[in-house]
Amino acid sequence: MTSRRKVIQSIGLATMAWPMLSTESNAGTPPMPVADDKEYWKKIRDQFSLARDKVFFNPGTVGAMPKVVVDKMIAHLQYIATDVADWAYKDDNKEEFISGYNNLMGIRTKVAKLINADAGEIAMTDNVTNGMSYVANGITLQPGDEVITTDQEHSGGQSGFMLKAKRYGTIFRTVPIPKPAHSPQELYDIIVKAITPKTKMIMLSHMISGSGAILPVKEICAEASKRGIFTLLDGAQTLGQIRIDVRDIGCDAYTGCFHKWMGAPAGTGFMYVRADRMKDIWTTVASGRWDNHEDEGFRFTQRGTGSFPILKGLEASIDFHNEIGPDRVYARIKFLGQRLRDGLRANKKVKFYSPLDESMCAGISVYNVEGLTGAQLQEAYWAKGRMRPRSQGDKWGVRHCTHIFNNEDEIDKAIAIVNSL
Ligand SMILES: Cc1ncc(COP(=O)(O)O)c(C=O)c1O
Repeated sequence: MTSRRKVIQSIGLATMAWPMLSTESNAGTPPMPVADDKEYWKKIRDQFSLARDKVFFNPGTVGAMPKVVVDKMIAHLQYIATDVADWAYKDDNKEEFISGYNNLMGIRTKVAKLINADAGEIAMTDNVTNGMSYVANGITLQPGDEVITTDQEHSGGQSGFMLKAKRYGTIFRTVPIPKPAHSPQELYDIIVKAITPKTKMIMLSHMISGSGAILPVKEICAEASKRGIFTLLDGAQTLGQIRIDVRDIGCDAYTGCFHKWMGAPAGTGFMYVRADRMKDIWTTVASGRWDNHEDEGFRFTQRGTGSFPILKGLEASIDFHNEIGPDRVYARIKFLGQRLRDGLRANKKVKFYSPLDESMCAGISVYNVEGLTGAQLQEAYWAKGRMRPRSQGDKWGVRHCTHIFNNEDEIDKAIAIVNSL
């Protein structure tokens, strides 16, 4: 039985009748449950083991795994523990006892489909930091060549470029962007204006983790491409939240992870490099295929012994996500995120650091309450509602993420807690 069929059975999607979204009424389009269909989303919530007496609002750090993900991992761990003697090592990429030597074509094909790439353009990594470091370390830049980015990048995205600058004399330049951001045009203008004749690369978060701002990456990549500048996007916060289409975006490279919004086990990520740019990236973690260009994605995926059960969990998380449907997942995340923002914006003591333009927001809301530090607000949420958003430090309040395992009552209770402070 395929894992896809198992998920269908476990959720019971096949037996549920869905009201149609008004925008989805074209013939041939599958029926979609609306983002506020409580019965449907309760059924999805039941697929998670999350304790009922606590509320999880922090998949921006690490996600909650659906039960099917955990079951798949346990089953495979058990299989290895029991039957490892069956393994007559053949080096034929079909064995599933250890990862790191297998080309993982099945999983890479699923990942490629999710982001509209080819499997050969996908390497499996352990996280976003790996992928960003692979590109930073692997690309050839001369002393004085410039990489530009914003002043709101995550250390896992930017540190590889800092290291390169210190070691090789390249320039890593951060460009300040507002927080909150006001519009896509504003951010586009700031980034494009920062380009100089020395700029060889633009590295940006697709979605800024400290504000939830979705950057106008398609427009920036188009301009960079005209000028021959390599574009690298950090998608740590996007996969499993908003749709990614690397062809449409037009970037040269994109990294992401599955352990935040996709609900996969920790230690799962990917790196996409467009086929014609793969040759520009030297291997960083080198094993036997370090200089083998027959399957470029495999060159990076081969990175020494790793855990296959983790990959079984990862694959189950993709099947689960696809079974619900990426657009449906996004619609629910956005619906809950906007409900939270709309509710909190009515409170004059709440200051938002997420963008003012809703088209730049999805499931991440960053805000503070006048007179409180982020740690105090985080603590108040726990004390009053056993709710777990994440502090952003003294000034920036909390990052409050909404996902498909959350519901309207939790959002309304969170708003009531803030109003009571
Ligand atoms: C924008 C961004 N980049 C990179 C990272 C690091 O991700 P990972 O821990 O998967 O390496 C994070 C983690 O929160 C992030 O938000």
